[in-house]
Amino acid sequence: MHNEINLDKIDLNSEPPAEESRRQYYFMAKLRGLAAAKAQELGRALSYCLVTFGCQMNEKQSEVVAGILDEIGYQRKDTEDADVVIYNTCTVRENANLKVYGRLGRLHNLKDHNPDMKIVLFGCMMQEEHVVAKIKKSYPFVNLVFGTHNIFKFAELFYEMLMADTQLVDIWDGTDQIVEELPTERNYSFKSGVNIMFGCNNFCSYCIVPYVRGRERSREPEAIVKEITALVADGVTEVMLLGQNVNSYGKTLEHPITFAKLLERIEEIEGLKRIRFMTSHPKDLSDELIAVMAKSKKICHHLHLPMQSGSSRILKEMNRRYDKEKYLGLVEKIRTAVPDISLTTDIIVGFPGETEEDFLETLDVVDKSCFDTAFTFIYSKRSGTPAANMENQVPEDVVKERFDRLLALVQEKGRIASSRFEGTVQEILVEDESKEKGIFTGRTEYNLLVHFPGSEELLGKYVKVQLDTCKGFYYLGTLAE
Ligand code: SAH
Ligand code: SF4
Ligand code: F3S
Repeated sequence: MHNEINLDKIDLNSEPPAEESRRQYYFMAKLRGLAAAKAQELGRALSYCLVTFGCQMNEKQSEVVAGILDEIGYQRKDTEDADVVIYNTCTVRENANLKVYGRLGRLHNLKDHNPDMKIVLFGCMMQEEHVVAKIKKSYPFVNLVFGTHNIFKFAELFYEMLMADTQLVDIWDGTDQIVEELPTERNYSFKSGVNIMFGCNNFCSYCIVPYVRGRERSREPEAIVKEITALVADGVTEVMLLGQNVNSYGKTLEHPITFAKLLERIEEIEGLKRIRFMTSHPKDLSDELIAVMAKSKKICHHLHLPMQSGSSRILKEMNRRYDKEKYLGLVEKIRTAVPDISLTTDIIVGFPGETEEDFLETLDVVDKSCFDTAFTFIYSKRSGTPAANMENQVPEDVVKERFDRLLALVQEKGRIASSRFEGTVQEILVEDESKEKGIFTGRTEYNLLVHFPGSEELLGKYVKVQLDTCKGFYYLGTLAE
């Protein structure tokens, strides 16, 4: 993205400006001077390694941190032998946390070889008090810790960290600020995530997200349209609109607007070819949205609709506010309106109190819904959530056995659902070269991956491919033109 502010023109002898984005550019200008001096002293450029855990929201926010570091003169590298190592953390399930602790142990050794190395942790996991307490106590070599609400202050915090000689921790409980216009370094030149809202108000009883991401806040539609228009001018043709529950977009705005209306406004942006979004909460999936999807030329025919469980009793305990019948009814409604839709879902196995009968209800919904893919998760107890205090936590061996049965059904059904395109010609957006040289990967509007022999100049382009063989969740194909 283009910067709005030229760092060279900032007067560093003045006080930092109060307006937030100007303030952050002021600190970027200061940091650029410091980084240049340090690079000269070392006789080499400074480097950073940024690792992102978790969901696409985190990916998107990492792009801002990367954009700021690029702006101040650090070069990105993939390995952790860097001058700055940054982890953008996730805490949705326990194993996300364990990964971070494991890697921190290894970083300690690297830091012994490079005492100037700075270690920065931020994101969802840092919003939990017990995590910060542990980092203070057991990982004092970490230099900077911040959360999810003050990422826009990264430049200022990074500057303060360089000035401090002790661990700097800055965690906010929440914010109503949405700071626009920070530099970003996009992972792809031709597609991009776009946050349309932050936070979550749903408090599903197993989920930590509302506690670490705060209350739901929607961005103004004008700001979203402006951002996408700028992205399109910069070469982007596909956007993924991001929110924990995009179906409730706009409700908290001064001039409320529905998600469906927002989609119609985005559809008008010339040059934009594909619109995707996630995640849709079944309780708020409206007829208006289904109608807009059915008539749109740009909204991809793919809907990620997390069911979590097929048992109405468990769904109630989960505080999901729909039941099995409502979920199956939605599936039918969307398939009637958009017959070629690709449906995907998320499922949790082993929620407290889940019985064999409850689990069979989940299998039943999987059996009936023809999902292309289902992401299956073993229930993970998150402290502070209502479910963590529920009795009847399901024994590990029972959960594992159910999980394996579910996975087998999901894979069998997924293979049948995704093979419906076998032999057809589909348009794909070419995204990556695979590990195998000369083999490229693209995505159909149905979110199905296709591997095909191609060449580099196809990256970022839309091409027609013949889908020769379905391999479950991906295809082997050949160029059709
Ligand atoms: N906002 C999205 C979900 C975001 S979290 C929605 O409501 O659909 C992504 C997925 O992680 C969830 O759909 C759920 O299946 C899973 N998940 C969340 N908390 C979990 C927990 N405590 N244990 C296991 N899986 C969990
Ligand atoms: Fe978590 Fe539920 Fe919010 Fe999704 S809607 S982020 S599962 S609380
Ligand atoms: Fe994880 Fe936070 Fe996303 S907890 S799933 S990174 S919102």
